[in-house]
Amino acid sequence: MILATPAAQAVFERYEARAASDAQRMKELGPAGFAIRDEFLLPVGREVGELLHAMIRAHRPRRILELGTSYGYSTLFLADAAKAVGAEVVTMELADYKQEHARSQLAEAGLADAVDFRCGDALELLAADAGPWDFVLLDIWKELYLPCFEAFYPKLSEEGVICADNIIEPAMSRGEMRAYRAAVSAQADLRSTLLPVGSGIELSVKWSAGNPKL
Ligand SMILES: C[S@@+](CC[C@H](N)C(=O)[O-])C[C@H]1O[C@@H](n2cnc3c(N)ncnc32)[C@H](O)[C@@H]1O
Repeated sequence: MILATPAAQAVFERYEARAASDAQRMKELGPAGFAIRDEFLLPVGREVGELLHAMIRAHRPRRILELGTSYGYSTLFLADAAKAVGAEVVTMELADYKQEHARSQLAEAGLADAVDFRCGDALELLAADAGPWDFVLLDIWKELYLPCFEAFYPKLSEEGVICADNIIEPAMSRGEMRAYRAAVSAQADLRSTLLPVGSGIELSVKWSAGNPKL
């Protein structure tokens, strides 16, 4: 079992079944699938979910930010790990019907109390929260990676972690991903590495020059 309780595991298995049927449908549709992308979960996938889960349990962040709730697949992993370490997840999503689905699934998983669902434009929602953020999952539409990074980075805590998904796939987003990675590497106090897990994760950790652990 990956998640902490049978209820959470059952919700995960349902998401996996839907992800498999989405993948089949997207394969059949080809490029035409992009026009109806809001119908699909577009999940980080099990490998990345497990990586996020392990990192949160080991690192024990207090405040976790998710940019791009979608239907709640990644939120399930974040919330399950957050509950284990007494953290809270703030998850942001523009599409209310997606976030409502996520909310119902997290409630069924017994994890609703670990999640603060915020519906609206992520840039506006980020501006309204003073932070700090200790752990960030960046998985929003790809043209928003850079403006979102610029909005949350000043509120990232020391030793805070950023996981940015889709760095390698899909290939159509590589221009935006290059711009994101360039912005991350321009920050002297971020140590960053590309992990070939799932669709490719850029894992960045804030280590400022004055950090006594350095
Ligand atoms: C790739 S999906 C997230 C997948 C999710 N993290 C998972 O693993 O299940 C990206 C999401 O970003 C949302 N999004 C796009 N633009 C947004 C905006 N301006 N503010 C908030 N969310 C937005 C989309 O509606 C979409 O659901």
